[in-house]
Amino acid sequence: MTGSLTIRGAWTAARENCARGCFCYHASWRLFRRTGLKGNPRWHSAFYQRALAGRQPSEALVCGSSDETMPQVLTELQPSMRITVADSCPTPLVLINAWAKETGVQVAALQSEAPELCGIAGPFDLVVTDGLLSLLPGPADRQAVLARLAGLLSDDGLLLYTTRVAGLAGHLEYDRIGRVGQALTATTWPATSAERMDLARQRLRRPSRPSPFASQNQIASVFRSRFGQVRVFTRSAPPTAALALHPAFLTGRGSVCVGIAATRPRRP
Ligand SMILES: C[S@@+](CC[C@H](N)C(=O)[O-])C[C@H]1O[C@@H](n2cnc3c(N)ncnc32)[C@H](O)[C@@H]1O
Repeated sequence: MTGSLTIRGAWTAARENCARGCFCYHASWRLFRRTGLKGNPRWHSAFYQRALAGRQPSEALVCGSSDETMPQVLTELQPSMRITVADSCPTPLVLINAWAKETGVQVAALQSEAPELCGIAGPFDLVVTDGLLSLLPGPADRQAVLARLAGLLSDDGLLLYTTRVAGLAGHLEYDRIGRVGQALTATTWPATSAERMDLARQRLRRPSRPSPFASQNQIASVFRSRFGQVRVFTRSAPPTAALALHPAFLTGRGSVCVGIAATRPRRP
């Protein structure tokens, strides 16, 4: 396996490429994904399979991809699909290019930030994004991203959005472990020790990101403003053993995986 595709390789790529704001996230991402503690596109594979049934998209855009997992999942579903990945940080692009080189899969990986998505030209018959709306500052930013993605779709194109909604516990499982892990990662940030400690303290103190959505219906209604047809898929079974063993799932208060399949884009 190529160096960049290991946990250590991802950490090294993050040290070389990330800005302060995303270093802790990208440097620790592969560890959290592999341990099954944090949600990733593989948790939504069954949704992608169902939503793509009867379709054979040839041009796909992935908007935001922490590492190579999303293009990997899409390629497994449809090997001939040409995939473009846009991410605001160079680190995922380094990992995706390493994966593409190792597997021979053709992927165009571009540093580009939504909603502008400079350098990205459609039409795409498939646009996929996982969790991106929760990372945006407010409702206007979410609308701007959805408008741009809708504008990049072909008339019969399909947009797939996946995320998780916290259960009755109010926050996603392993959030605290995630923060501690990111704080420890901050101590390896290539900066002065004062800057590293400042970043670590900030990660520890940062309250868990309040999700903008409390239910699948709230998510669907955001998509209905931009698409003529919106289907909602949910899955409440724990996607990994780590989640199955979490107290939230053991007491019936676990998070829910949500998939949105949107078609008939309304032009901005
Ligand atoms: C969208 S989520 C994807 C998470 C998902 N677990 C995955 O593995 O695909 C996180 C990714 O989005 C990127 N990102 C965050 N905001 C973005 C934006 N406005 N435009 C493009 N990429 C963005 C981050 O750099 C990160 O790599």
